[in-house]
Amino acid sequence: MTHILQVFVISEKVLVTAALPYANGLLHIAHVRSTYLPADVFSRFLKATGRDAIYICASDDHGTPIEVNAAKRGVSPEEHVAFFRKKQVRDFKDLGIEFDFFSRSSGKVNREFSDFFFNTLKEKGFIEEREVLHRFCPKCKRFLPDRFVKGTCPFCGAFDQYGDGCEECGKIYRPVDLLDPKCAQCGTVPVEKAGKHFFFKLSSFSGKLKSWLESNNALQSEVKNYALKWIEEGLEDWDITRDAPYCGFEIPGEKDKYYYVWFDAPIAYFSSVAQWAKEKGVEFDGFVSGDAKIYHFIGKDILYHHYLFWPAMLLGVEKFSLPFAIPTRGHGLLAGKKMSKSRGSFITVEDFLKEFPADYLRYYWSATTSYSMQDGSFFWGDFQRRVNDDLANTLGNFVNRTLVFVKNNFDSKVPEILKPRQLAGAEKEFDAAISRVAGDVFSAMDSGDLKKGLEVLMDFVRECNKYFNDSKPWQLVKEGKDSSASVSVSLCAKAVATVAVLAFPFVPVSSRDIWSQLGFSSELEKVKWGSLKSLSVGGLVIKNPKPVFKKIEDSVIKKVSRDLGGA
Ligand code: 2FM
Ligand code: ZN
Repeated sequence: MTHILQVFVISEKVLVTAALPYANGLLHIAHVRSTYLPADVFSRFLKATGRDAIYICASDDHGTPIEVNAAKRGVSPEEHVAFFRKKQVRDFKDLGIEFDFFSRSSGKVNREFSDFFFNTLKEKGFIEEREVLHRFCPKCKRFLPDRFVKGTCPFCGAFDQYGDGCEECGKIYRPVDLLDPKCAQCGTVPVEKAGKHFFFKLSSFSGKLKSWLESNNALQSEVKNYALKWIEEGLEDWDITRDAPYCGFEIPGEKDKYYYVWFDAPIAYFSSVAQWAKEKGVEFDGFVSGDAKIYHFIGKDILYHHYLFWPAMLLGVEKFSLPFAIPTRGHGLLAGKKMSKSRGSFITVEDFLKEFPADYLRYYWSATTSYSMQDGSFFWGDFQRRVNDDLANTLGNFVNRTLVFVKNNFDSKVPEILKPRQLAGAEKEFDAAISRVAGDVFSAMDSGDLKKGLEVLMDFVRECNKYFNDSKPWQLVKEGKDSSASVSVSLCAKAVATVAVLAFPFVPVSSRDIWSQLGFSSELEKVKWGSLKSLSVGGLVIKNPKPVFKKIEDSVIKKVSRDLGGA
């Protein structure tokens, strides 16, 4: 495992991506849990620990649901996509999800990249034309792709599944494989029609995918085992064509035939990097090939696409690096239920942020989301408890009592800190704990376990409060032992600075607040974890200290759970 001290000599290039959100609705808080927040926390962490990291995403502008919903709203797909994309960009910004570049899958560069992938795979014999049967709804007068046909899963027999894959067993199949099919829009039993489609020969990659999965230790083993099981059961070739009407890129040289959205969406990870690199005037290749470390953050519902289709496409094209890790997390639930608009169990980011600061949600999800496929619920009571107990009473309290103490007893000026060799007893121990915490948080986070990293940090903050209580600086001042009080309070101020730096990936707005209240005028995001050892707080002039976090009253929780839903 890399150690915190090593990363200052390695300047590795790291690409972090988050699954592209469909520009077809508002972001809800479940999306934040599995994907956008962990990727944001992780990319902030990478940047703070000296890696040359970028965080890239784009809107996913294609697919039948977009085409159909645009028609329902009486607008063109382009207008529909632009409408939701704009709202999502705003929500991401308000949440502090800071992409280095947010592109669009329907852009010109992604079209060029998609054609390159298609042509290369075709030339190499990995894409071939086949005459196949497709389901067509005689009433709606359209082919029924993906989510437009419902029926019984051909693998596990689960009822009421969509045509693109089973939510119960996770297998991916073709709409034509679904048993007892019905048009999802009107319920009509579809008829079958023959037509030409392009197939990506996924089955040719079974061996290579298996070796890649088995040899890659950065992949979560529970997810890897799913993918290996699917390979063992036999991979089906993948139909990458959709017929008109479709919102997507038309296949070159074909009429009324489009790339399936899942063909061009992952390609947008790379085409977005290309656009970012061009804008910045930096090298593109270093982030997508050779030694580049690529992390794709996803929710567990799309693991088939990321563990099998996308790596197989990359293995076929032989130009880019394969993912280093595909951090996969479970669904965010609302009081135990899947968040769904139709069932009314759905809290949008927009509504949430009207009531609470973004850092409260960032903290809640970070503290409760394990690095696993396990689903996790949002509960209002739990949210209130974590904000009040952890943020306000533990973190906020330690910061505030330290700063107020400096203001009231040291004329707002942080006393100079003593050298470790001048310290003894509890002071020496606390100083050692301050020096140790960055390495401990680093070890957890570097392995992808962000929740563990936050736990280590919060345990440290509890230790800080204990030190403050035990060393009783107020008593020392009362007894006229100002120099002892100054030792204790300068250590606490150093701990506050350390906490601000380490908490920044999780709660950036609050951390900046702490940093500036402590009297720093530098930009917190530029502070590297490796420089913490030499960080000096002596002489800083405390600005007017005020609580960083506000407790949430019971009446507020009652109101929001009534207005926004959940329990
Ligand atoms: O499932 C989804 O929401 C897709 N829009 C994710 C695409 S991720 C990728 F591969 F681009
Ligand atoms: Zn129909």
